[in-house]
Amino acid sequence: MSDLNYSDKVMDHFMNPRNTGEIPDASGVGTVGNPICGDVMKMYLKIENGIIADAKFKTFGCGAAIATSSMVTEMIKGKSIEEALKVSNRSVAEALGGLPPVKMHCSVLAEEALRSALADYYKRQGKEPPFEMKSHEHDEHGH
Ligand code: FES
Repeated sequence: MSDLNYSDKVMDHFMNPRNTGEIPDASGVGTVGNPICGDVMKMYLKIENGIIADAKFKTFGCGAAIATSSMVTEMIKGKSIEEALKVSNRSVAEALGGLPPVKMHCSVLAEEALRSALADYYKRQGKEPPFEMKSHEHDEHGH
């Protein structure tokens, strides 16, 4: 099936994911899940003076979810929070040389995990996050 061809970069980040693990004294932690496939991603950020000093992740999910979480942690390390917030699932997928269309939703998980960890960072400081959390449309009927 040609639409399930993965780029070399996706395969590389899937086979050798960067930044896996936890940050015990993280400044913010975000956990997100995709209700359809059941995959879960947890992201840890260490933030110092507004800069993302370190980022790690644990992903229980498909290969594309692992590759996008690996890539997103690489992309945001050393960046300011403002710059990190500009990282979208599309830019992560592009940095990986593209994803098959049926796997684009996996990159959404990476963007959401990042934003959720940043939101947690703000909450821990008693502040409202200065951005909105995009939520899965499917979550909205849950209450
Ligand atoms: S299939 Fe669930 S995140 Fe990829």
